[in-house]
Amino acid sequence: MIERFTFGTTIQTGAVVQELEAAPSGAVMQFGTLCSSSPFKWTYRMDRGDMVFGLGEQMKGINKRGGLYESWCSDVPNQDEFTHSMYGAHNFLIVYNGSRFNSICFALFFDSPARVRFDIGWSKEEELAVSSADTGLDVYVITPAPDRLESELNDVVRQYRQLIGQSYIPPRWAFGFQQSRWGYKTEADVQEVVDQYRKNKLPLDAVCLDIDYMEQYKDFTVDKAKFPDLASFSAKLKEDGVRLIPIIDAGVKVQPGYDVYEEGREKGYFCKKEDGSDFTAGVWPGESCFTDFMNPEAAKWFGMQYKKLTDLGIDGFWNDMNEPALFYTKDSLQAVFDKIGSFAGQNLDIDSFFQFTPLSSSTFSTMEDYKSFYQTVNGEKIRHDRIHNLYGAMMTKAAGEALRTLSPDRRILLYSRASCTGSHRYGGIWTGDNKSSWEHLEQEIKMLPSLNMAGYLYSGADIGGFGEDSTRDLVLRWLALGVFTPLMRNHCAWNGRNQECYAFGDTEDFRSILTLRYALLPYIYSEFVKAVLSGGMYIRPLGFDYPEDHHALECEDQLLVGEGIMIAPIYRQNASSRYVYLPEAMTKVTWQRGKITTEEKGKGSYFVSVALDAVVFFVRKGCLVPLAKNAMEAASSADIDESKLGFIGNGTGYRLYSDDGFTREISKLSIHTVGR
Ligand code: GLC
Repeated sequence: MIERFTFGTTIQTGAVVQELEAAPSGAVMQFGTLCSSSPFKWTYRMDRGDMVFGLGEQMKGINKRGGLYESWCSDVPNQDEFTHSMYGAHNFLIVYNGSRFNSICFALFFDSPARVRFDIGWSKEEELAVSSADTGLDVYVITPAPDRLESELNDVVRQYRQLIGQSYIPPRWAFGFQQSRWGYKTEADVQEVVDQYRKNKLPLDAVCLDIDYMEQYKDFTVDKAKFPDLASFSAKLKEDGVRLIPIIDAGVKVQPGYDVYEEGREKGYFCKKEDGSDFTAGVWPGESCFTDFMNPEAAKWFGMQYKKLTDLGIDGFWNDMNEPALFYTKDSLQAVFDKIGSFAGQNLDIDSFFQFTPLSSSTFSTMEDYKSFYQTVNGEKIRHDRIHNLYGAMMTKAAGEALRTLSPDRRILLYSRASCTGSHRYGGIWTGDNKSSWEHLEQEIKMLPSLNMAGYLYSGADIGGFGEDSTRDLVLRWLALGVFTPLMRNHCAWNGRNQECYAFGDTEDFRSILTLRYALLPYIYSEFVKAVLSGGMYIRPLGFDYPEDHHALECEDQLLVGEGIMIAPIYRQNASSRYVYLPEAMTKVTWQRGKITTEEKGKGSYFVSVALDAVVFFVRKGCLVPLAKNAMEAASSADIDESKLGFIGNGTGYRLYSDDGFTREISKLSIHTVGR
C-alpha cells in the first residue's frame, strides 16, 4: 500500500507517474514523528537491529545506517566515505528489521526538488532524521502488500517503482563493452582504439567521444580538423560493429555567432539572474549559459539540437556536467582575485595562510552562485537552489523526449552524470568521476543495488577508475564486476595512464573476461528487460531474496544479478581468493578463457580462488542460465547468436526475453521459455 502526505506548497518534480490523493492535512503518518512541517523534519526511532537501505547514488554501505547523506547533485571527483552528496538525488529509503518481535518493513519516498538531508544514526545512533529546509514536499509511505509473492523488501521496491514509472531501456548494443577516455582527440586516435581491440580479438561495441571532438567545447559542433567527416567515420565504424557515443555538456559557450548560443539567448531560453540578464558561469568552454530545462519550450529546443548529431548517424549520447557544475562566475572569480591580492606582501601567519590556501578552488559550484539565478516553473520565476536537483534530470528528459521524436522506431542510448528520480524513465547514469582505487571498486558493489532500488538499472561506474593511474590487476578485477553491470564502460581522465584492455600487454587475460560478458549477453539483456517490465531489481543485495537469513542480510560484498546469478567480486589488491557465503545450494561456475567448469556446492561459507583472468559466479538452485556459444568469436554484440545457447544450472527452463535490439515496442510477449 502507498499513502501520500503533502507538506507545504510543492513544486512538481515529475518523479511519480501514479496520481494518489494526499491524506487529509493533519493525518498522522504510521511511522515516526513529524517534528515540523515547515521546515520539514521527520524522525524515526530505530531499534538496534533496524537496517536502512536505499538512497541510490550515495557512498558507504548497502545498509546506510551510521551515515549522513544529502540529496544535492554535486560534482565530486574526490569522493570518499565522508562525501555526503553525489551526482544524483534519489530520496528513497527502506527501513527493515525482520528479527524484531513485530517485524518492520516500510519504505519512504521524499519527493522534493530541493536539498534533503538524511541523518541515519549519524548524529544520534538510534535516530533516523529526514529534513529539508526548503519548499514543500510529498512523502510517500509504502508498506508491503499482504498478498505479495516475494519478500517484503522486494515488494516495497516494486511498489515504489510502479509509483515512479518504468525505467529506461537502451538498445541492445549498449550492453556491449564501451571504451572511453578523455583524450581521444582525433579520428585517428579513435580508429587506433578500435584497431587495437579488433587486432587483439577483444570484443567492443562502442567508443565514447569526450569533449575533444567539439569545436572549442561547443555543444552540437564537431571539430572538422579532428573529425573531417564524422558521418562517414561513424558509418564505417558501425559496419565494424562499433558505435560512437559523443558527450554533451550542460554549459553552452557564450560566443557571438555560435548558433546554439545566439538562438538560446534570443529566445530567452537560458537561466536568468534576478535582473533578467543571462546567468553565466565558467565551465570547459569558458563563460557559458545554461538552458532553463524547466521551461518546456527551452527544453524542447535543446533536445532538438541532438538532431545535428543523429543526422550524422550517431545513436548514443552521454550528458555531462549537468548538476550543473560551475567552475566560477565572474563575480566569484573577481572576489578571489581581490582576496588573493590582499595577501600579497603580507606576513602570512597560521590564520591568514590557511585562509589563503583554499581560495583558488573556492569558486566551484557554490551555494551563493546557485542562489544567484532563476528558472521558470509554470511561468513563475523560482530561484535555482530550490529546484537544484532537477537540473540534470530535466536535461535527460529533454534529450530523451527529443530522441524519441527524432528516432521513433529505434531506441537511442542515453546516460547522464547528474540525476534525480524521474530521469530514470529517460536515460541511465554512470556514477561520475571515481578514482583508480580498490575502495572505489568496492564502493560500486554497494552502490549498484541501491541504484537499482531507485530505478536506475542502466548504470555502472568508470571501470579502471577515472582519476589517477590504474593498474593492470585493478582493471581486470573491475572488468570482472563490470561483466554484470548493464553499463560496462572503461573510462579515464586525460592525465591518467592508459587503461584500455590492450594497454597492459598479455591481452588474453582481458579477452578472457570480456568474452564472458558477451557469452552472458542474452541473459543480461533478458534479465534487465524483465526487471524493468516488472519493476524489479536487476541487481539486488543478497538479503532481499533471503531476508530470513541474517548473514545474507548483512552481506555487503556479494550481489544477486537477475533471477539466477550470485556474484562475489574480488576487490582487494593481491587477493587471489575470498570468502563467499552461499545462503543455499548453488552451482559454482568458473569461466576462464572460454572454458567453463562447474561444481555443486551446499549452503555455507567457502574460501574461493579466482585467477586474475577468470570470473567465478554462482547459479542459484533451480535456475538455468543461458550462455551464447559463439562468444569467443564475437567482435561485438551483433555477432552473438541467440539461437545457439548453452545452459548452466539445475533448472528446467529459462525465460528469455529477446527482440531485434532496438524496437521501442517492448513487450512481455517476447519472453519465451528456452532450455537444454
Ligand atoms: C567530467 C566527466 C568525465 C569527463 C570529463 C571531461 O569530469 O565526469 O567523465 O571525461 O568531464 O569531459
